[in-house]
Amino acid sequence: NIQELKDRFGRVHNYLRISLIEKCNLRCSYCMPAEGIPLSPKAHLMSAEEVLEFARIFVGLGVNKIRLTGGEPLLRKDIGVILEGLSKMPVEISLTTNGLLVDRNVDNFQKLGIKKINFSLDTLKESRFQELTRRTGFQKTLDNFELLHDNDFDLKINAVLIKGVNDDELVDLVNMTKDYKVSVRFIEFMPFDGNSWDRSKMVSEKEVLNHLGAHYGVDRILSLPDEANFTARKFKVQGYKGDFGIISSVTNPFCGTCNRIRLTANGRIKNCLFSNQETDLLAAMRAGENVENLILESILNKKAVRAGMDSMEKLSDPALHSDNRSMIAIGG
Ligand code: GTP
Ligand code: 5AD
Ligand code: SF4
Repeated sequence: NIQELKDRFGRVHNYLRISLIEKCNLRCSYCMPAEGIPLSPKAHLMSAEEVLEFARIFVGLGVNKIRLTGGEPLLRKDIGVILEGLSKMPVEISLTTNGLLVDRNVDNFQKLGIKKINFSLDTLKESRFQELTRRTGFQKTLDNFELLHDNDFDLKINAVLIKGVNDDELVDLVNMTKDYKVSVRFIEFMPFDGNSWDRSKMVSEKEVLNHLGAHYGVDRILSLPDEANFTARKFKVQGYKGDFGIISSVTNPFCGTCNRIRLTANGRIKNCLFSNQETDLLAAMRAGENVENLILESILNKKAVRAGMDSMEKLSDPALHSDNRSMIAIGG
């Protein structure tokens, strides 16, 4: 007898995103400030057992899809234990990664039947990769993408677009879909603590479509039907193997069909990517309190759209919306 996680707007939350770690082996400027973020004390982070215990509780509340994020989730030394534990639960497991540590994990993914991997890759140019991520590793990233592709993983590429930085690569990225069966998603740059967002740096859904339409010809860009609970509106270039999508949280939000709930690496539930109101489930679980009730309460407090913030300018203004985290500590 499953209690659904239904909010006041009738949205059923069956997709849990668990951030496993606050650290990353890259330093993408849209995700974190150069100096890094203050890390939670180790004792406040979820152990592998606690991650699995939460997963069990959420599955009991109707969650049937779990995405692991970070920071970089594959940096966890006990990632194998977590994946193995999750693979025994009646839930689809997926992962969002920068790809650098994929080669060490690919056998395990295959053994456990993990097929769905979203791969962050914002540029196909090495020098630009280094500027954007403030680290090296471009070739490794590409090699690991090939590795997953050759092994038939269900792959998506996430590219956050920043004006004047990588928006000249739209066509190159879409061209990847000619021969690779991959979904390339262009993401509107969103404001989070420490990422110096401003609207002029953002490339909108409309601009992306205009640019690609002018290049390929509007008639060759086919619009694909929306998937249930989509983040990306999807398209493809006629005849290409893969497709592309646009994640337009800023100019055209998709909150109406949101089914997502988040758990941070320090065990706090976040009912929206943009919410700064979190409940410490980990402390509650450690104190033997009723975690289910806290989860239900958080869902019932969820706002209709973007945590009640009607504009991105408000979200990015510390006077109006303080204490949201940096993206690295949310996991997207
Ligand atoms: P799928 O499970 O494959 O549909 O992936 P996803 O698009 O939900 O997740 P992914 O981790 O690949 O994130 C891609 C982009 O979508 C990131 O920029 C996320 O921040 C953004 N995103 C994911 N979920 C939400 C959400 O609920 N709201 C908003 N506004 N953005 C989201
Ligand atoms: N705006 C939009 N997307 C972002 N991501 C990280 N930071 C931002 C941001 N400021 C994306 C990354 C990663 C996903 C989990 O979140 O592309 O793939
Ligand atoms: Fe790391 Fe991903 Fe953030 Fe880049 S976007 S710093 S790879 S967590």
